[in-house]
Amino acid sequence: MLGRMNAPALPRRPQILLLNASLAGDTGNTAVALDHMAALLAPQADFARHTLATAPGFVACSDALAAADAVVIGTGTHWDSWSNHLQRFLEEATPAEGTALWLGKPVACVVTEHSVGGKGVLSRLQGVLVTLGCLIPPMSGVVLSLAAQTAAQSAPFEPDCRSLPGAAKATDATQDFWCADDLAVVTHNLLAATLQLRLAQPSWQTWPVDRTGFDQRWISL
Ligand SMILES: Cc1cc2nc3c(=O)[nH]c(=O)nc-3n(C[C@H](O)[C@H](O)[C@H](O)COP(=O)(O)O)c2cc1C
Repeated sequence: MLGRMNAPALPRRPQILLLNASLAGDTGNTAVALDHMAALLAPQADFARHTLATAPGFVACSDALAAADAVVIGTGTHWDSWSNHLQRFLEEATPAEGTALWLGKPVACVVTEHSVGGKGVLSRLQGVLVTLGCLIPPMSGVVLSLAAQTAAQSAPFEPDCRSLPGAAKATDATQDFWCADDLAVVTHNLLAATLQLRLAQPSWQTWPVDRTGFDQRWISL
């Protein structure tokens, strides 16, 4: 009699949280970028979505955050900063700094903008996230801008480049701009980091964190 073979258990698919902090919620530009990432993630990962415009604040999202192996945060650029939804979320997340909710959790960031300020938003956001305890994978943050998209759409076609001096330069330049295709790299690197961490299981340490006194009055005049 043939013994019954147990099939080896399949590894659990990574669980990714898509956190949409856009002012426009599910109907905005950022939502379109996050939808694109969801489609890229779907073959390899399970994902949950949370839209702060619909369910604002940190508490509304903390269960989804706890369940997530990795997070994608998307926001527009508003007066050189991220959305007020994201600001509220980060302020309310302060007591969770350095906890298991964040510690070593890979986070990717997608910022949208019209023309200027988005890179500052991205860099500062990544700085905040790494201080909360997150892990920022390489090339895991992009800024998608109307300016870059318009420039790319109006760049001269290849054949023209050969005949127009200077035009080739413009075409080359737009190819270096961040665009929607780069979301595939962001997705790949986020998943790569998530799977690597699962194997490596690094033991991160935290420095002491004041979780109660950070909002006390301290001024002495
Ligand atoms: C109040 C407000 C302020 C904005 N400030 C900027 C800005 O400083 N720089 C910029 O490039 N775009 C700015 N924009 C454009 C948005 O960043 C851009 O349209 C973004 O894609 C909006 O994302 P959303 O559609 O997901 O809300 C602003 C838009 C609004 C509504």
